[in-house]
Amino acid sequence: MNLDLNQELELEIKRVGINGEGIGYFEKKAVFVPEALPNERVKIKILKIADKFSHAELIEVIRPSSERIKPKCSDYSNCGACQLQHAKNQGEIKSELLLESLCKYSSLANPKKFVDEIILSDKSFYYRNKAMMLVRDYNNPLGFYKTGTNHFISTPNCILHMKIIGDILKEIPNVIKASKIVCYDERRKKGELMSVLIRCDQTEEKVMIMVGVSSLEVKLDKFFELLTNKFPVINSIYKTVIDIKDNPYYGDEIIHVGRETHLDLNFMDYKFRLLPRAFFQLNYLQAEKFYQKIIKLAGVKKTDIVIDAYAGIGIIGILVSKFVKRVFLNEIDKDCLESAKTTIELNGITNITILPGDFVKAINGLDKKTVIDCLFVDPPRSGLIDYTGILKLRPKRIVYGSCNTATLSKDIKVLSEFYFVTKIVPLDMFPNTSHVESILLLNLKSDRK
Ligand SMILES: C[S@@+](CC[C@H](N)C(=O)[O-])C[C@H]1O[C@@H](n2cnc3c(N)ncnc32)[C@H](O)[C@@H]1O
Repeated sequence: MNLDLNQELELEIKRVGINGEGIGYFEKKAVFVPEALPNERVKIKILKIADKFSHAELIEVIRPSSERIKPKCSDYSNCGACQLQHAKNQGEIKSELLLESLCKYSSLANPKKFVDEIILSDKSFYYRNKAMMLVRDYNNPLGFYKTGTNHFISTPNCILHMKIIGDILKEIPNVIKASKIVCYDERRKKGELMSVLIRCDQTEEKVMIMVGVSSLEVKLDKFFELLTNKFPVINSIYKTVIDIKDNPYYGDEIIHVGRETHLDLNFMDYKFRLLPRAFFQLNYLQAEKFYQKIIKLAGVKKTDIVIDAYAGIGIIGILVSKFVKRVFLNEIDKDCLESAKTTIELNGITNITILPGDFVKAINGLDKKTVIDCLFVDPPRSGLIDYTGILKLRPKRIVYGSCNTATLSKDIKVLSEFYFVTKIVPLDMFPNTSHVESILLLNLKSDRK
């Protein structure tokens, strides 16, 4: 029997999929149902049919799981940016997702024996230190397009953002009206204000804002005057001209408009200086646990030479610098490198050498005789991709921070020819979403003798 579009039917949910959706089976083919949980019987409506699977919408939970809770956010079902607010024990689900990826891609015989208990977050809401919102000519102009659609979702009250960011986001529609700025109309390809990016420090006493505009001529004086009068904590202001076909938040040119050029953070006993593009983990409390675990797993000593690659603003390298002899720090992004250099100077650190540019090229430039005791890597979602540099250098230990369980598992498959997997620690960096952060420790096989 085949499924039809818009068909309604009952389904038993068997497990959770990589994007946090429930998965049930119809005639042995997977049906993905957002907001459904394992062991639930649900009524669904089929929305999309492909060869091997279908996508459906949840209409009713007929037999709820004991793990089901009421989502805290009233926009939860409409928004789609969170996927697990309806689940009580998100840590268990995330550990399960990591294990599934390891089983599918890593070729480890028994991945369970390497995986530690997940490091949970003490805070499930109000943790995001950065908001990125599109601005469109709707009644409520701040929001984003629902994943894979051109359906604009207004999200004025997102409860994942830190409180000050939420307060500013709520005020922006009033300031747009009062300053008579025209919000961007996607259909007519016209308008002035296209996006807003806001970041804050842990104390919520310092805020950086950057607006994406359609041209340099857009007048922003009134907008910023009204906004900073209401929120004097805004102490760094930028604008950038957006190319709609490219990145909606960062244009080629980023222009400082007023107040400080940077956002200063006091984080784990160091002072970090962020420029608008510079990477920083989105959840301060979990980031601290993430870095503590990374440094602990590395087990470094005072004579060690280490590399912090894909370093962002160099947090791992900076934190580990006082425990080792020398740190090489690699990163490709200019703003990150600028922030890293200033941070190293601000903190009077003298044993860090910066290797700018692409990771593989940068480590190929190292003297072949240099023995690397530990390599820290924390690549983007795409994972390591090119292993030549690592395999040439053969660091004794690799501590790998990952935000994608699938690419982590595929990288394990390649690296485990030369390395023992010693430990994998999942961490919940983004509560209420299906994202899983993990830390992997690898030890060089020939080094174990
Ligand atoms: C997930 S972030 C990690 C940052 C850092 N470890 C931290 O915890 O803040 C990944 C970083 O890799 C950088 N990156 C991306 N591709 C790169 C490449 N080919 N070579 C070096 N760095 C790269 C990005 O600019 C980004 O800062």
